[in-house]
Amino acid sequence: MPTKARGKFITFEGSEGSGKSTQINLLCEYLKSERHPVLFVREPGGVKISEKIRDILLDVKNQEMNQECEMLLYMAARAQLVEEVVQPALKQGKIVICDRFLDSTVVYQGYGHRMDVAFIRKVGRFVTQGCDPDLTFLFDIDASKGLARIKRAKDRIEKRAMAYHRRVRDGYLEIARREPRRIKVIPSEQSIEEIHDQVVKYVNRLLSKK
Ligand code: TMP
Repeated sequence: MPTKARGKFITFEGSEGSGKSTQINLLCEYLKSERHPVLFVREPGGVKISEKIRDILLDVKNQEMNQECEMLLYMAARAQLVEEVVQPALKQGKIVICDRFLDSTVVYQGYGHRMDVAFIRKVGRFVTQGCDPDLTFLFDIDASKGLARIKRAKDRIEKRAMAYHRRVRDGYLEIARREPRRIKVIPSEQSIEEIHDQVVKYVNRLLSKK
């Protein structure tokens, strides 16, 4: 029996308040309307164990969490998600849409906390087992404008100083410059429809590649 072609792995990245959730929903709806098999997951989270780790990571009461613990918890959540659902779905030929992935750790813990980015990438390779995104969207927004868009109570990461969030944004732009084929930068100051059209264009280009 012929083996099924590997699916496609698409990740969404961006600073706080960049509008990526809206675009993820629109893309998932679009792909389903085109009858593509789609799996949507978020990070940290997506499966039971990783959602529990998410609660620990985002809890504002956990102020004493150190940077090493934080980085490793994001990686632990990822290890579980990749093996439990991402890899199997890709093997079944599905399009996996993930809200954040390893780039978030490189940027939030690496650039944001000034941790060793090369080491983070090494741990990343260990937990993702070669499961790399085929396409990544980076929703770019000025740090203060993005944070001002958040109307609910802020979580432990969102509460950080503006300087931290600026390093995150700069980090994202830096990694996008280094990997322009994979990471597509989408400026957030456009209409929802304009952004959706760009996202669909890149995704269709990926799907038409054999
Ligand atoms: P969310 O708000 O997009 O659901 O993401 C949760 C928060 O966790 C967000 O502030 C970004 C942060 N984060 C990291 O700091 N490192 C990571 O590796 C991931 C996946 C998220």
